Amino acid sequence: MQILIIGGTSFLGRAAAEQALAAGHDVATFNRGRTGPDVPGVRALRGDRERPEDLAQLSGARFDAVIDTCGFVPRVVGRSVAALRDAAAHYVYVSSISAVASWPGSPALDGEPGRPCPADAGPDDGDYGVLKAGCERAVTEVFGDRSTVVRAGLILGPRENVGRLIWWLRRMSRGGEVLAPGDPDQPMQLVDARDLALFMTNAAQQRVSGTFNATGPRGNTTMGAWLAAAATVTGSAAQLTWVDDAFLVEHDVGVWQELPLWMPRGQDGDHVWDAQTAAAEAAGLHTRPVEDTVRDTWAWMAEHGEQGEDAQGRIGGNGIDPEKEARLLAAWHTR
Ligand SMILES: NC(=O)c1ccc[n+]([C@@H]2O[C@H](COP(=O)([O-])OP(=O)(O)OC[C@H]3O[C@@H](n4cnc5c(N)ncnc54)[C@H](OP(=O)(O)O)[C@@H]3O)[C@@H](O)[C@H]2O)c1
Repeated sequence: MQILIIGGTSFLGRAAAEQALAAGHDVATFNRGRTGPDVPGVRALRGDRERPEDLAQLSGARFDAVIDTCGFVPRVVGRSVAALRDAAAHYVYVSSISAVASWPGSPALDGEPGRPCPADAGPDDGDYGVLKAGCERAVTEVFGDRSTVVRAGLILGPRENVGRLIWWLRRMSRGGEVLAPGDPDQPMQLVDARDLALFMTNAAQQRVSGTFNATGPRGNTTMGAWLAAAATVTGSAAQLTWVDDAFLVEHDVGVWQELPLWMPRGQDGDHVWDAQTAAAEAAGLHTRPVEDTVRDTWAWMAEHGEQGEDAQGRIGGNGIDPEKEARLLAAWHTR
């Protein structure tokens, strides 16, 4: 099969390129050549998806499937689907559970409508989730049944490019007393980029139609389980001190980013970890144990060194200043 990946050099797209090559497919990647090296073995096409003249090189080609991992603006995604409508048999678009209109106030059920957003919206017409929903429309309006919309959940794994698990692993490796946020029994659902990539390449090959919540099953880990795994794999003597939601909120700790993946109950986040995954599982999504993801991510970090940490150890703006963490722990013990 001839697969075109729009993107393909960083994290999820890179995993998809590797999976597709390993399965024996002929893989082309289209990107600007800025973010990372090409996966060895791909045919590297250079171009900016925002420039119609760059996309023109795709129109004359023939692809059995496109996997689009870097669509964030409906109008821009609209250009690639227009360029590829006759050149590609099937289009796999990587969306997000954030596109689901009812989420996170309610569970993200299979088949939920996306947030309102026109298919030709520009970058300033909404937030990330709204624009992802508009991108979904841009794809399905043109490709219809010839498309798979993959509403990804929280993606972790080797080569993570955000600063979530990789920040926590770095923090654990420093050891000492670690501020563990919220409730250790909080159920979560996480997906490994490699499992998601396999789902996408299989969907491309089998021309699976429809929209899927693609993440681990509900409760495939808890906050306590994966943080404990992170402490263990780094081999550090990190000691976790659990600090409850109310204390952290009261002390102005930023949700989601300052302590990555922490979302206190009772805010918007009541259903953050509540996506139905039955349709994706029926279509072939299998997810490995989160402990394996944690272990393999640390192994990759150990091999590759720095992840772009700033002076306070934050990665991509994610993570807490060590001095603030120490102040919070001291206040927690004397409360
Ligand atoms: N991380 C999560 O937890 C999470 C959750 C839900 C959904 N998602 C979605 O999953 C996807 C993750 O993507 P990824 O970063 O892992 O994918 P990736 O394909 O590994 O990396 C992003 C690629 O996009 C290319 N790119 C960026 N701008 C481009 C442009 N204007 N023209 C051509 N190529 C361009 C980059 O190359 P160049 O810069 O060299 O062009 C790079 O190859 C995103 O769509 C995200 O919304 C992520």
